[in-house]
Amino acid sequence: MRFSELLDVLFRWAHLIAGIMWVGNSMLFNWLDRNLEKQHPGLSRLSQGKIFMLHSGAFYDVEKKLLEPGEMPKTLHWFKWQNFTTWATGISLFVIVYYMGKVPLVDPAVKDYSNAVAIAMSVGILFCAWLLYDTLWDTIGQKNPRFATIVSIVGLFASIFAFTKFFNGPAAYMQTGVMIGTIMTGNVWMVIVPSQKGLVEATQSGKEQDASLSIRAKQRSIHNNYLTFPLLFIMLSNHFPAATGHPLNWLVLISVMIGGAGVRHFMNIRYRGEGKELVKGAWLAPAFAMGAFGIAGLLVITRIQLHTGPVVNGPVSFSRAQEIIVQRCMVCHSTHPTDDVFKVAPNNVKFDTPEAIVLMKDRILERAVRQRTMPLVNKTKITDLERAELGAWIEQGAKLQ
Ligand code: HEC
Repeated sequence: MRFSELLDVLFRWAHLIAGIMWVGNSMLFNWLDRNLEKQHPGLSRLSQGKIFMLHSGAFYDVEKKLLEPGEMPKTLHWFKWQNFTTWATGISLFVIVYYMGKVPLVDPAVKDYSNAVAIAMSVGILFCAWLLYDTLWDTIGQKNPRFATIVSIVGLFASIFAFTKFFNGPAAYMQTGVMIGTIMTGNVWMVIVPSQKGLVEATQSGKEQDASLSIRAKQRSIHNNYLTFPLLFIMLSNHFPAATGHPLNWLVLISVMIGGAGVRHFMNIRYRGEGKELVKGAWLAPAFAMGAFGIAGLLVITRIQLHTGPVVNGPVSFSRAQEIIVQRCMVCHSTHPTDDVFKVAPNNVKFDTPEAIVLMKDRILERAVRQRTMPLVNKTKITDLERAELGAWIEQGAKLQ
């Protein structure tokens, strides 16, 4: 295994583990908040509610509250390293895969410019996105959160559209994911943790805790909560070239994000505290509807055929199809690839023998002719006519003469 591939495996694995821990925590605490019992006898003055839970072999008796002046417990558990590890491994993975050249950020068919410039843009976007978002919510967001929400959503969708015009499909999706992950991490380290520290310091110096700090932290925490489902989809998106490689890939992503955040919303409002739930029709049905909206985005938009390339009517022989594959595909897809990056056939797809080519005909049709997501960022410069010839050969029965 090559060193870069080893790094890829290690960081991806760690990223997944840390991500599960972080998102799992976020879900659990959010669920706790929404299930608190606020009318419990014997609640303390600063209590926000109590909850009893059963897990493993015993009961958990948890109270959410602010602390009285001087009431600092000896041991306090913070939840911030799961987030940091998820972000740090995620950024590293982005660098390993996209900045170090395994997959370029640029696709000449989308926009032909230097990959170094694309990397500089990608880094710049991450900083600017955080600064803009944080400033928005520190100013307008304090007085008019509804307006700030609209501006944030419009800004996010506009960014997605722009990314797909400057980066190749999978990279544009990942740029969006890394941007969201960076904003979420900024929320934890620049807002939530400092607010928590403010609460702790007040208590230690015998003062009342400032409830506005608590509210500020909660606001950002809720943003993170809504972003989890869309972000998790982006993490998986590179397995779905039909979505990332489609000319309307930005619209696919936007509809999946609306659907995902919508499902999250109805899961959130399901609980009304005191162990009560909304009636099923008020949360389950709309949650399904939002899920269906996201799925429709995947199903309907990815079927829209936008390419009107050349049409091949005459018969195409196997030797012509093989010629194209040798020239445009086997650089990567053979027993001994000659590509500068791929030293092993990607996905173990090899076109060494006629039989191997025929066996893969459906995937060749899908990736090289319909989706046009192969060759990878058209590194070998296949032409539209060659794609059409490949398609014609397969549609004429993929015969070996
Ligand atoms: C520069 C290297 C490169 C070239 C050239 C290339 N591929 Fe690929 N191919 C990849 C990589 C990387 C993957 C795995 C990632 C993915 O699926 O997008 C892959 C995966 C595939 C897969 C398996 C995944 C699936 O969806 O079934 C098929 C089939 C495929 N390529 C077909 C082709 C065809 C046909 C050509 C030529 C027209 C071609 N490739 C040219 C790099 C290349």
